[in-house]
Amino acid sequence: MQTIFQLFPSSVKAAKNEKNIGIPCCEISDEPSFSWRGLNLDCCRHFMSKDFVKRYIDILAYYKFNVLHWHLTDDQAWRIEIKKYPKLTQVGAWRVESDGSVYSGFYSQEDVKEIVSYARIRFITIVPEIEMPGHSLASLSAYPENSCSGGPFKPANSFGVFKDIYCAGRDSTYIFIHNVLDEITQLFPGKFIHIGGDEAPKNLWKECPICQAKMKTEGLKDENELQSYFIKNISAYLTDKGKSVIGWDEILQGGLAPGTIVQSWQGFQGAVDAANLGHYTICSPESFTYFNTSPENLDLRKVYSFNPVPDTLPENKKNYVLGGEVNLWTEYIKQENVDENLFPRMLALAEVFWSNPQNKNFDEFYSRVKKSYADLRSMGIKYGREAKSFTYNITIDKIKKESVVNVVKLQDNIEIRYTVDGTIPDSNSHLYLDTLKISKPLVLKIAAFNAYYITGVALTLKFVNNMASGSKITISNQYAERYNGGGKEALIDGIKGTTNFHDGLWQGYEGVDFEGTIDLGELKEIHSVAPTFLFNQDSWIFLPEKVEISLSEDNIAFNNIRTINNDIPQKSTEVLIKEFAALYNKEKARYIKVKALSIKECPDWHSGSGGKAWLFIDEILVK
Ligand code: ACM
Ligand code: ZN
Repeated sequence: MQTIFQLFPSSVKAAKNEKNIGIPCCEISDEPSFSWRGLNLDCCRHFMSKDFVKRYIDILAYYKFNVLHWHLTDDQAWRIEIKKYPKLTQVGAWRVESDGSVYSGFYSQEDVKEIVSYARIRFITIVPEIEMPGHSLASLSAYPENSCSGGPFKPANSFGVFKDIYCAGRDSTYIFIHNVLDEITQLFPGKFIHIGGDEAPKNLWKECPICQAKMKTEGLKDENELQSYFIKNISAYLTDKGKSVIGWDEILQGGLAPGTIVQSWQGFQGAVDAANLGHYTICSPESFTYFNTSPENLDLRKVYSFNPVPDTLPENKKNYVLGGEVNLWTEYIKQENVDENLFPRMLALAEVFWSNPQNKNFDEFYSRVKKSYADLRSMGIKYGREAKSFTYNITIDKIKKESVVNVVKLQDNIEIRYTVDGTIPDSNSHLYLDTLKISKPLVLKIAAFNAYYITGVALTLKFVNNMASGSKITISNQYAERYNGGGKEALIDGIKGTTNFHDGLWQGYEGVDFEGTIDLGELKEIHSVAPTFLFNQDSWIFLPEKVEISLSEDNIAFNNIRTINNDIPQKSTEVLIKEFAALYNKEKARYIKVKALSIKECPDWHSGSGGKAWLFIDEILVK
């Protein structure tokens, strides 16, 4: 039926009420390559309305997906009503954002029944995901007695991996989860229940006497085996109820429970290990199927090249790969931005999951993608980009003292528009035709437009006056290539980084200090030197402990040393940009040295404890 519907003209799909419809005469002989063709929708980090979920069920059916993996519980929210434990939604479905506003939403059991039956008649199986033992802070906020420390907790208003997880030592935790699963299995008649299992830090289990006692009585040699014990307990409970259990690839640690299905996300290895052990697997590696990754970093062509069956799997194990899933994690994606992240890339996976791999041909596929846009519009799908739509480079004209911005379009079906007043470009903003020459401080915003609307977020470039623009800089320690900020001159290019650490403007140093020396070319009067740092503790980006700035005439004797200590607590969860400014009294210098002392390792209290800490630096403002 969906194949026939796909043959209808787009105008019919939009109106759905035409009487006489012609379709080409044809014979359809068709079957899918994979039995598992899923979309994982994270309705925790951002909530999606019941109608929106139903709309996606229609879209999935049209593109011949058959699984909606519904991510319902996480650190930031518990979104499904459980009658026995009303606080799960009374407490767990509400979070207070850092600006004090409240973000909430949950599905009542009536909503869930409606959605499940809507899905069933469209041949979509809904697989609920109830996360454990990690990603459980919202649950623990409602019932802190299930944690190791006893709490209190609040649903998280930031993102990452949190150290407080279910206590695997307390028998009451298991009873609680069994009771929750009793209601879940009543609500979801499908065969599959996803129990998460990913990203569970075991630090607190190491310190918890109850967890340690459980390990002793059960003869478990380490915390990985305790996790395995936990997952096996829950799996056995669900298996007894006739369900099949799915977990993320971390459930391989410490040994798999019989019959569990492994969803591989950290590359393909989880799928390979599971299949080799004779377990079914769903292959959804981050590098191909995480559509929260921008199209700049995961484009249509790469998605189309995905094969759910890992190359390294022996022939006789390939049948253990059930298929794959698109994953949409919504930390930074609201309901209104879901379409643009999923489309057009979902078309590529629809084809990967359905078609015979021998028939794959990107050019031929792409010719159909272009025709599909009319269909997407007729169905009200606000699709986004296929790939990176433009790049830019900036050169500094030292004589005219201006920055020259050159934008290069990477797709022919878009136009580039920009503003210089800080507003987001719209379809009436200046059309970019030729290089832009900028000689005074301003905020330049550049965006790509398809024929209908802006696609993606606007690029923001904040131009400032910097006396060091166009000078030379030498840097002692190496920055990370993926956060190169545009090379070392980026630190004095007159453009300031934004609060988005992915903006390409920041230079990131992993576990090392920053040290750089600017050569102004001649002696100049210095009023101030202010290197700028980004702080985003959740993303392991910390402020320097202190910054030391000194001046020199000859690059040998440095004097006028100023030390600026950090005065912002590294525990703060705010994301901010901080200048460490040294003031001078018109001292003359040609060389300026900046040393920033990194904390190097994430502190004990941090979820990344012991891992390398990042130091992010951008503009070193010299006046
Ligand atoms: C995952 O991305 N943590 C499954
Ligand atoms: Zn414990």
